[in-house]
Amino acid sequence: MPETLLVSLWRGGTDGRYVSYEVPMRENQTVLDVVTWVQRNADSTLSYRFACRVGMCGSCAMTVNGRPRWTCRTHVSKVASNGRITIGPLENLPIIKDLAADMRPFFEKWQQAKGRFAPSKARTDPIERIAPDNPARVAADAAIECINCGICYAACDTVRWNSDYLGPAALNRAWTLVNDVRDAANVERLTAVAANGGCHACHSHQSCQEHCPVSLNPTRSIAGLKRRTAQAYLRGEIKP
Ligand code: SF4
Ligand code: SF4
Ligand code: FES
Repeated sequence: MPETLLVSLWRGGTDGRYVSYEVPMRENQTVLDVVTWVQRNADSTLSYRFACRVGMCGSCAMTVNGRPRWTCRTHVSKVASNGRITIGPLENLPIIKDLAADMRPFFEKWQQAKGRFAPSKARTDPIERIAPDNPARVAADAAIECINCGICYAACDTVRWNSDYLGPAALNRAWTLVNDVRDAANVERLTAVAANGGCHACHSHQSCQEHCPVSLNPTRSIAGLKRRTAQAYLRGEIKP
């Protein structure tokens, strides 16, 4: 194992550049460990984002050697090539500074896709029982463990070409709610995801599914939304 790693980090805003640092190599070192070493030992002004360090919060995603990854769960040994590694902010999002991308467009699209639960019952109503093997619950469960990391959004070519596209994570979230029988906002939600920039803009090339660190399949959720919105048109539940 070489003793040092040559790490190129994006520095500055959109008009920034890559700057190289020599970082000591360690066994079982993660990409986030490398970034943290630079911030603590070489340049304390380096900006980046993380919280849990254990793959739960989704905040540490960056572009590593051209591919979006969760950096706290990505080992250097898996991605370094000839002792080198290049790390930048997530793509398809504005850059705040250095390795910190601005996640606002990502979360604004969750709002546009009506990604918030709308209760159909009051606090005093009895709690609804939902069988775990109910097909709608099974469909929701398969998509629900999203950690909001933005990796699928950064990997999606349709987002890159069409800034209005809601993107895989927001649509995946909408699909979980469409399958939640307790939710009361599905006409609004299906109308939102059927509009321009919604599910029908996805061309199903599965980059989102390929890169998702928790093995979700937004492409499958979006295919479900395409079917469900078509049915809703035919039944007159939503308007073209
Ligand atoms: S399948 Fe759809 S949402 Fe996923 S990366 Fe491709 S275009 Fe984007
Ligand atoms: S669907 Fe996967 S890649 Fe996309 S935000 Fe959720 S966890 Fe991250
Ligand atoms: S720091 Fe929380 S997922 Fe990486």
